[in-house]
Amino acid sequence: MSTTETQPAPPAVPAVKLPPASRVPKALQGAAFWISRRWIVQQMARRHGDIFLLNVPVYGSMVVVASPQLAKQIFTTSPEVLGNIQPNLSRLLGSGSVFALDSDEHRQRRRLLAPPFHGKSIKNYETIIEEETLREIAGWPEGTAFATLPSTMRITLNAILRAVFGAEGAELDELRRILPPWVTLGSRLATLPKPSRIYGRYSPWGRLVEWRRRYDVILDKLIEDERADPNFEKRTDVLALMLRSTYEDGSRMSRKDIGDELLTLLAAGHETTAATLGWAFERLSRHPEVLAALATEADTDDNELRQATILEVQRTKTVIDLTGRRVTAPVFELGDWVIPQGYSIIVGISRMHANADAFPDPDRFDPQRFVGSKPPSFAWIPFGGGSRRCVGAVFANMEMDVVLRTVLRHFTIETTTAPGEKWHSRGVAYTPKDGGKIVVHRRNR
Ligand code: HEM
Repeated sequence: MSTTETQPAPPAVPAVKLPPASRVPKALQGAAFWISRRWIVQQMARRHGDIFLLNVPVYGSMVVVASPQLAKQIFTTSPEVLGNIQPNLSRLLGSGSVFALDSDEHRQRRRLLAPPFHGKSIKNYETIIEEETLREIAGWPEGTAFATLPSTMRITLNAILRAVFGAEGAELDELRRILPPWVTLGSRLATLPKPSRIYGRYSPWGRLVEWRRRYDVILDKLIEDERADPNFEKRTDVLALMLRSTYEDGSRMSRKDIGDELLTLLAAGHETTAATLGWAFERLSRHPEVLAALATEADTDDNELRQATILEVQRTKTVIDLTGRRVTAPVFELGDWVIPQGYSIIVGISRMHANADAFPDPDRFDPQRFVGSKPPSFAWIPFGGGSRRCVGAVFANMEMDVVLRTVLRHFTIETTTAPGEKWHSRGVAYTPKDGGKIVVHRRNR
């Protein structure tokens, strides 16, 4: 072809067209977002509908959406157009975390992480969860109100440390000591601007660095022990699966990436699952009919109602309220709008779960809505969606199922007419403010 021939003009980039923005001054929007994300998103959605613009420090200009159609478009758009939100948890977890990766690197890591979190592998972890639950509930007091959250936190922490890290003995004990304060502090710092330097080892960021150093020492020991295990090839913990697995080109995950990724699985999986379980107890103690039916079901091998209840707890008491992407293409056409490069796109998960078209009478806690019917794909999204959908969704679901079943088999839970617990933000996840308080009595089985 002659070079003088006219080339077809490249497709024109459509002009930017932004959704309605708040008229509130930027500084106030930022303050409202940091004080209560849930509240400002709710207020804005009431005023502007399913899509609007917010401007907050750290994340900058963000388009927030709350309709299943728009969520579908976001979750099914190629990662080359919509990358991961910036900044994200990899600021705390390291450059080897799946949160830090985009495009091909992200796809490859997800492929590597998928097998240990498949339904078949998950079966292996059921016994660990049941054991951890039994150990924890053995100490539950009878006849007095107590918060379930500290218990669910310990169960989910131990479950991940054993099933994912393959930790036992002294290493398990040391990880149990250093990781919970690390996750609590990390969650709080995750949504704050990171200082340009760390002011000493006793400053918040300095403490994270010190915990990370101690964590790395333990992880080296765990890896050494796993490799020395004569049954290494048969081990089913995620660390062993990572050590054995290879990328498509035959290369293996580096030691640093393994460290960052295990921490990621813990940070992403521990509080979220514990918070949802705390909410489950909070809801069940306020819904006598559901509770009675679940107690009867727990004595059988069925779990249809328990599964429906878990889905409804996740819908009404959504612990991760937002998830996000960032426009990496020159523009992203979203519905009627054209969003420019560099903007954050936020899916308002909690708002979506209150959508009356998808969930009639949305404020009502009613597990029956999911008995015999699957939740609508892009309206029920507690685990996000698309290529970044939660890696641990099946694991979390199994864990919640086993914990609830075990508790219901061993205890009756008193019902209460007290108003529902308020929301409490721990930084990343939302928990019930009083920790999911209940009163229990041991069953004579
Ligand atoms: C009820 C419990 C959980 C909830 C509500 C939850 C929720 C979420 C959400 C909303 C996302 C973002 C998805 C997106 O952007 O589309 C996510 C990502 C993620 N979750 Fe979970 N999660 C839970 C449990 C777990 C568990 C148990 C693990 C692992 C053991 C885990 C590991 C991850 C990881 C690694 C990602 C990042 C995925 C990526 O960027 O490719 N999560 N989770």
